[in-house]
Amino acid sequence: MVRLSVNIDHTATVRELRRTPYPDIIEVANCVKRGGAYGITVHLRIDRRHIKETDIERLLKEVDLPLNVELSMAPDILEFILQKRPHSVCLVPERPGEVTTEGGLNVFKTEAQLKEVIPEFKAKGMRVTLFVEPDPTVLEKAKALGADAVELNTAHYSENKPGAFDKLKAAASFGKSIGLEIHAGHGLHYGNVSKLCEITEIEELSIGHSIVARAIIVGMEQATREMVELLR
Ligand code: PXP
Repeated sequence: MVRLSVNIDHTATVRELRRTPYPDIIEVANCVKRGGAYGITVHLRIDRRHIKETDIERLLKEVDLPLNVELSMAPDILEFILQKRPHSVCLVPERPGEVTTEGGLNVFKTEAQLKEVIPEFKAKGMRVTLFVEPDPTVLEKAKALGADAVELNTAHYSENKPGAFDKLKAAASFGKSIGLEIHAGHGLHYGNVSKLCEITEIEELSIGHSIVARAIIVGMEQATREMVELLR
C-alpha cells in the first residue's frame, strides 16, 4: 500500500488566524497517527504564516511518526532544519505571496545550490526529496544531484489537465528505473486518489488541504455537540 504523509499546515493556518494556542499541533498529529498515516508533513514557509520553528521542535520531540519538512532554500530555514534533523526534507520552490507551491523545482537553475545542500542533509542522516514536474530530464538531474526521492507534482492531474496522468505514469516508471524513490502530491483529494494509485511505482503521497477540509465536515457535528453540552 502507498504510504500517506499528511500535511497538517492548514490546521496551523486556523490557529494563526486568531493566534490562539489551539488547535494544538501535537493533538492534530496524534489524530493523524490514530487515523493510520505513515507520517506527518509540514512546510516551514518564509513568512511563517502557518508552521513555526516551535511546531517543528514539538513535533520532533512529542510525536512518534516520521516528520517530513518542506522547505525552500532560504538560508535561515536551511540552517534551522539542518540542525533539527527531521526524518526527511522535501525541497520546494517558494515565491513570496504564493497561495500554495506553484510548480516543481527548477533543478537546472538551482543546480549550484542543490549540489551544496543535498550532501549536507544526507550527511546529517535526512532523506532528501525534490518536488519536481514529471519530466524525465528533471528526474535524471535529480538523481545526478544525489536526491533519494522525487515528489512528482500532481497539480495538473488534480486539475484534470489532458495527458497529466500519462505523464505521471511515465515519469514514475522512468524515475524508479534510475533508482529514485517516487512520491507524489499536490491537490489530491478523495475523488482522484484511487486512480493515481494505479501507478504502482508511487510509494508515498503527500496530502494536506483535502484532508483538513474533510476533517471539518466529519468533526463539525461532534464539536458543536460538545459546546451544546457545555451550555446545557
Ligand atoms: N507537496 C508539496 C510540495 C506541497 O507544497 C503541498 C502543499 O503544501 C502538498 C504536497 C500538499 O498539497 P495539498 O495541500 O494540495 O494536498
